[in-house]
Amino acid sequence: MSADIITAQGLVKDYASRRGMFAPPTTVRAVDGVSLSVERASTLGIVGESGSGKSTTGRLLLGIEPSSKGSISFDGRPIPAAGTSEWRRLRARMQLIYQDPLAALDRRLTIADQVREPLDVHNIGDAAERRERVHELLAAVGLRPDHGRSYPHELSGGQRQRAVLARALASRPEFLVCDEPVSALDVSIQAQVVNLLTDLQERFSIAMLFISHDLKVVRNISDRVAVMYLGRIVEEGSSEDIFREPLHPYTQALVSSVPQPGTPLKERIILQGEPPNPANRPSGCAFHPRCRFATARCRSETPALKQTTDDRSVACHLVAVSTAQPSLEGVV
Ligand SMILES: Nc1ncnc2c1ncn2[C@@H]1O[C@H](COP(=O)(O)OP(=O)(O)OP(=O)(O)O)[C@@H](O)[C@H]1O
Ligand SMILES: [Mg+2]
Repeated sequence: MSADIITAQGLVKDYASRRGMFAPPTTVRAVDGVSLSVERASTLGIVGESGSGKSTTGRLLLGIEPSSKGSISFDGRPIPAAGTSEWRRLRARMQLIYQDPLAALDRRLTIADQVREPLDVHNIGDAAERRERVHELLAAVGLRPDHGRSYPHELSGGQRQRAVLARALASRPEFLVCDEPVSALDVSIQAQVVNLLTDLQERFSIAMLFISHDLKVVRNISDRVAVMYLGRIVEEGSSEDIFREPLHPYTQALVSSVPQPGTPLKERIILQGEPPNPANRPSGCAFHPRCRFATARCRSETPALKQTTDDRSVACHLVAVSTAQPSLEGVV
């Protein structure tokens, strides 16, 4: 059995886009050659500014949208074509949790009915077993049995996200894509829901792709982290390494805004220039217009994601490959 539950190779996603009624359609490349893998029962965090392709990557992995290029395998096998019965069976093993629990829930159904829905759809257990399982699931996410009789609008935001989690867990998934799962919640309950997620992950051995703008949460929750910029992964490594010693200048800027426990706050690097826009992709390294270290090579040649050490990959011409020492060290 492979250590990875899901693996993607060279994923590309192009969207047709029209900037005005009479403008000719152009294509926008939202994801541009992403390869990644998520180990069983572990968490890969994805960070990057708005528009960098994080959510699109999550949707491609789940097969909610077809990729324009590339391949995905789940549990060692290629993902079957969307819509087929084989794909539907597989979908029960991977679930999506996104930002807005109210949109994810059906306003006309009670919470218990919605948590039971996957059991009905996948024909799991008889009526009594399903009732029992709904109770178990509600308890697992910290909801009381009477919450099951409520409708979504009768619950708080945090309770709704717990209900969404209970429903996602009903089919015993092995992989969850969590796309900004707590960013719509009150700050005071974000930590509770994050803790719940990690508890459930451990208890049920679930792997996660955890997408978030909140780097502190990503650092705490992730085993590995991938940093995306304009549809590409520009750095990937263990969460500890990435936050302790970011190598890509973009990662350095992101990480500089997060205080490190036990170390004095480093100088915060403010990113200059336009945020990434896939409709207007710079030549060479897409980050070069905002990079403090950009050279002529960076403007003309796109850096490939290369392994720098055993456990880290970086796409930057200025980071030495196959040495433990980043060449940027001392410059920053
Ligand atoms: N259905 C679509 N049609 C056309 N363009 C799309 C579509 N979905 C995403 N895009 C474009 O693809 C790019 C990546 O979008 P995506 O939603 O994956 O980014 P993101 O990293 O999740 O951003 P955010 O942090 O704001 O959620 C954006 O430029 C977006 O406008
Ligand atoms: Mg998104």
